Amino acid sequence: MAKGFPEKFLWGGALSANQSEGNYLADGKSMTVADMAYFDPNTDFKKLMMSQLEVTRDGIEKAKSATDVTYYPKRRGIDFYHTYKEDLALLKEMGFKAFRYSFAWSRIFPDVKAENPNQKGLDFYDRVIDECLRLGMEPVITILHADLPLQIIEEYKGWANREVVDLYVKYAKTVLEHFKGRVKYWIPFNEISVDLAVPSRKMGVLKEDYSDYMNATYQALHHEFVASAKVTQLAHEIDPQNKIITMTSYGPIYPYSCNPDDVMLSLLSQQKNSLFFYDVLLRGRYPHYALKMFEDKGIQLKMAEDDLSLLNQNTADVIGFSYYNSTVMSSEPSQLEKTAGNFMNAAKNPYLKSNEWGWTIDPVGLRYSLNYLYQMYQKPLIILESGSGFYEVLDENETLHDPYRIEYFKQHILELKKAVEDGVDVIGYITWSPIDVVAASTGQMAKRYGFIYVDQDDLGNGTKKRFRKDSFYWYQHVILTNGEEL
Ligand code: BG6
Repeated sequence: MAKGFPEKFLWGGALSANQSEGNYLADGKSMTVADMAYFDPNTDFKKLMMSQLEVTRDGIEKAKSATDVTYYPKRRGIDFYHTYKEDLALLKEMGFKAFRYSFAWSRIFPDVKAENPNQKGLDFYDRVIDECLRLGMEPVITILHADLPLQIIEEYKGWANREVVDLYVKYAKTVLEHFKGRVKYWIPFNEISVDLAVPSRKMGVLKEDYSDYMNATYQALHHEFVASAKVTQLAHEIDPQNKIITMTSYGPIYPYSCNPDDVMLSLLSQQKNSLFFYDVLLRGRYPHYALKMFEDKGIQLKMAEDDLSLLNQNTADVIGFSYYNSTVMSSEPSQLEKTAGNFMNAAKNPYLKSNEWGWTIDPVGLRYSLNYLYQMYQKPLIILESGSGFYEVLDENETLHDPYRIEYFKQHILELKKAVEDGVDVIGYITWSPIDVVAASTGQMAKRYGFIYVDQDDLGNGTKKRFRKDSFYWYQHVILTNGEEL
C-alpha cells in the first residue's frame, strides 16, 4: 500500500484573473460579466450573493455606464496585474509546486470576433507564466473562469448560440499554441457543474432572451461540452504532453437518514448535480438518466452530426474538482432549506459545523469524494480548490494569528493523506486562495481565504500591502515535509 504523498505531489494554490487582476480596462481589455457584479455595502452577504446570481440586460446597462471601481470590486481585484511578481515570490517562498491561474478571454480577445489576439494581453500572461516557471512552479491554467466577455451576451445571447463554440475554440487554440511547452495542465471551464444553477452569469444565457429557457440552458451546456471536447482534441494534437483537467464543484450529497427514500434522493441529486458532468466529460457520453430527463422535460438539443463522436473520443485526462462542503438530502420537505452555501435546498447536517457563510466544514467528505470519484472514473485526481473564508483583521504588529485556518487545512490534508493511502491516485492539492482575493459569490474582500493577507477592505480602501499570516509558515512546513508534518 502507498505510504504518504507521492514525491512529485503538486502542492499549491489557485487564483482567478477576475478576482485578482483588477485593471479591468488596461491594455485593451474589454468588459466581462465579472466587471458587472455590483457590491452594496449596506446589504448582507446572503442578499449580495443572490443579487449577483442573475444577470439582466438592465443590470448590464447600469453597470456599463458606471466608471466606478469602488462598488464593482472585481474591476479592481487585488491589483495582481501589477503585483504578480511580488505575489508569485511569496507563493514560491511557501514552497509551491504548482500555481493555478486563469487567463481572461477579454484580455486576449477584447473583440471576440477579431482574427488576431491582443498582443498586450498575451504579453501580460507571458510575464506571469515565465515568472512562474522561473520560480519552478508548475502552471495549471483555466481557460474560462467566470469572466465571460460581455460581447458574448450582447451580440450572441450567450453559449446557447453555437457560434460561441468557435469563438471560444479560437481563443483556446491561441493560448494552447502560444504557451506550448510552457503550460501542460489545462482546464477548459471552471466549475462547469454550476453553470445550470447560474446560467446567466456563467453561460450568458439571460431569461429575457429565450422563451424556452430550460431548453436554452441545456443547449448552452451542450455547446460547452462540445467546446471542451474540441479543446481536448486540440490540446493533445498541439502537444501530446498536455493534460486536460475537468473542473466541477464537488462534495458528497449524503442521505439524511437510512430511510430508503432519503438514500434514493441523495443518489438522484448526485446524478443531477455532479455525475452528469463527469459522465459526459470523462466517459464521453450523455448518461441514461440525463437522456430520460431530457425526454421527460421535453428538452431537445440541437447537435451537429459529429458532436457525439467528438465527445466520445475526447475525454479529459485528469479528474479535477473544487472541494468546499458537503450537503444532505432528505425526503422530508420540512427539513430542507436553501442554505447560504448551497444552490439547492438541503438539510442541515447535525454532525458538521459551518463557517460564517453557512458552508459546512467536512474534511472526511474529502476522503470520501476522492475514493468515490476514483472508483467511478478511474483516472488521476487533483483537488483544484479547497479552503474556507474567514473574517479577519491584522493586529497592531501587522501579524495575523489564524489557528482556525491551520486546523481547517490540517484536518483536510489528514483526510487527503488517508485517501492517498487508500490507493487513490491523487496528483495534487491546490488550495483556494493562497492570497486574499475578492469573493466570487458576494464580492466581499472581507471573506478571506489566504495564507497571505491583503490590506484592502470591501470598498477598496487600504494599502494593498501583503502580510504573511501564521498559516503561511504552517503550509510552508507542510510542503517542505511533503505532507508528513502537519
Ligand atoms: C469557487 C470558484 O466557486 O469558489 C472561485 O471557483 C471562488 O472562483 C470559490 O472564489 C469560493 O467562493 P467565494 O464566493 O467564497 O469566493
